[in-house]
Amino acid sequence: MTTELSLANVQGDILVGFSKKVELFYFFQIDNADAFRAQLTNLVPLISPADKTIGEKAEIRKKKEEHRQNVDVGYGTVIKPVHFPVVGVNIAFSATGLQKLQFIDNPKLNDVIFDNGMKQDAKELGDNNANPGADFKPDWDPAFLQDIHGVVLIAGDSFDTTSKKLADVKASLSTNSVSSIIEVATLAGDVRPGENSGHEHFGYLDGISQPAIDGVDEKILPGQAKINQGVVLLGRKGDTGNSPPWALDGSILAFRKLPQKVPEFEKFLLESAKSSNIDIPDGANGADILGARLVGRWKSGAPVRLAPLADDPELGKDEQRNNKFKFSSNSQRSCPFAAHVRKMNPRGDLDAEIINERLILRRGIPFGPEVTSEEKITNKTQNERGLYFVSYQSNLANGFSFLQKSWANNEKFPVEKPFLSGFDPIIGQKVDQSPPREMIGANGDNVSSPMKLEAQWVNSKGGEYFFSPSIPTLKNVIAKPPVTIPPPANGYTYCPPEHQG
Ligand code: HEM
Repeated sequence: MTTELSLANVQGDILVGFSKKVELFYFFQIDNADAFRAQLTNLVPLISPADKTIGEKAEIRKKKEEHRQNVDVGYGTVIKPVHFPVVGVNIAFSATGLQKLQFIDNPKLNDVIFDNGMKQDAKELGDNNANPGADFKPDWDPAFLQDIHGVVLIAGDSFDTTSKKLADVKASLSTNSVSSIIEVATLAGDVRPGENSGHEHFGYLDGISQPAIDGVDEKILPGQAKINQGVVLLGRKGDTGNSPPWALDGSILAFRKLPQKVPEFEKFLLESAKSSNIDIPDGANGADILGARLVGRWKSGAPVRLAPLADDPELGKDEQRNNKFKFSSNSQRSCPFAAHVRKMNPRGDLDAEIINERLILRRGIPFGPEVTSEEKITNKTQNERGLYFVSYQSNLANGFSFLQKSWANNEKFPVEKPFLSGFDPIIGQKVDQSPPREMIGANGDNVSSPMKLEAQWVNSKGGEYFFSPSIPTLKNVIAKPPVTIPPPANGYTYCPPEHQG
C-alpha cells in the first residue's frame, strides 16, 4: 500500500518550482556506471527536495518584504529589486541513462514515448527534418543528437551562485579527479531583464496558469484547475500508467530547446494586422491586438476572453482574476479556437475531467539576449534566443507529447466547432511546411476567415525526456551503498587470509 506523499521525497523543481533568475542545464553521459552509482551518495545531499524549496521560497518572500525599498525615480516611486542568494539542484535520467545505470535488470518506466526517447518522437512532434527527402533526422543541435544520459538542473539567483554549485556537483561525481560522467553540453537560461522579467521573448507574461496539486497546494486561485497528484507524480492517484515501484513519486521531465524568431514574429504581426483589416479601436495597436489573439493573452497576461479589445494590465497581474474564465464553447469572437492558451487548456471547450488529465507543470526559462536595434531594423534574428521549455508530467501520452502532437499541431482541434481551428500559431508544427500553416479566427470580426502563418517562429532545436526520481529512489535504489566489510560472525576482528599465520 502506498504511503501518503511526503514533500521531503520529491525533487523540488517538480511540485514547487525553483526560485530563479538563472538556470543551468548540465547534460551528461555516464562514463563509469559503478563509480557514478557509488558517488551518487555524495550528490544526494546537494539535491533540493520540495519541502526545502517551499521553505526557501517563503524565506525569500519574507526577506524581500523586509528589504522592500521604494525608490524615487523622478516620475514616481518604484520598488527596488533585491536579490538574495538561493540555489536549487535536481537530477534526472533519460531512458538510455537508466539502462546504463542497470540498478535492476532493464529499468524501464513502461511509458513507450519515454522509453524510446525524444529523438524517436521528433518526427511526430513535427520537428524539422535535416535530411529532406531521405530518412528523417531531426534538425537539432548536435548536442541533442548524441546520447544524453542525464541532466542536472541548477537554478538560482545568479550565474555566480549557480556556477559555484555546478562545481560542487561535478566534484561530488569524481574521485581522485576522475569523473564518472562526461559533459555533453551546459545550457544557461536567464530571466529577461527589468520590466520584461517573467515575460518570454515574444513579450508575453508567462507562468500564469499552472494547475494546483491536490493535497500539496493549499491555496487554490479562482479558475485554477485542481489535479490529482498522479497527473504529475508516478504511482500516485490519477497516474494512468503502469510504472514500476521504484518510479513512485518521480516525474517525467520534458526538455525542449525552443528558439524564437522574435523580429520576424513582430514584423508578421505588424503587416498582417494591416492586411487583414482587423478592426482596431481608436488609439489601439493592430499588432498588439493580433498578437494577443494568437497567444490568447495580452503581453500583461490579461486573458483576451476577459479583455477582448484592449490590454488590461491590472487584470494581467491580478491572480484572483487572471485565470477566472472559461472559453465560450462555440465562439471565437473573444478568443480564437487556435490561440496558444486555448489549444493548451481548452477550458470550456472540453469537460474538465478530460483536460485535467492532460495538464502539465511548466518550469521553463528564457535564454539568449534581448533583441538588438540592428535586429529590429532588419527584422531578422541574428542572435539565438528563445525558451528552454521544461514540463513535468507522469505520462507523455497525456502530457507534453500529447499536447504538442494532438492539440497544437492538429488543425482540427478543438473538434466539433463551427470551423476548423488551424494550428497553434505559437508552437504548432507542420511536418511539411509548404504550404504554410493557417489558423482561423485571428480576426475577431470575421471569425471564419483563415490567416496564413507565413513562417514558424518557434522551431525546436532538440531536447530529451528525463525521469526525475524520488529522493528515496536516488538514495536507496540507484545509489550504491559504499562497500562495507561485514564483521566476522565470531566477533573477532577480521584479518585477511594473507595476514593469517
Ligand atoms: C517558445 C515557445 C512557447 C512560448 C513563447 C509560450 C508562451 C506561453 C504564454 C505566453 C502562455 C500564457 C501564460 C500562462 O498561462 O502561463 C503560455 C501558456 C501555456 N503554454 Fe506555452 N509557450 C511555449 C511553448 C509551449 C509548449 C511547447 C507547450 C506544451 C506542448 C506549452 C504549453 C502551455 C500551457 C499548458 C499553457 C497554460 C495554458 C493555460 O492553462 O491557460 N507552451 N505559453
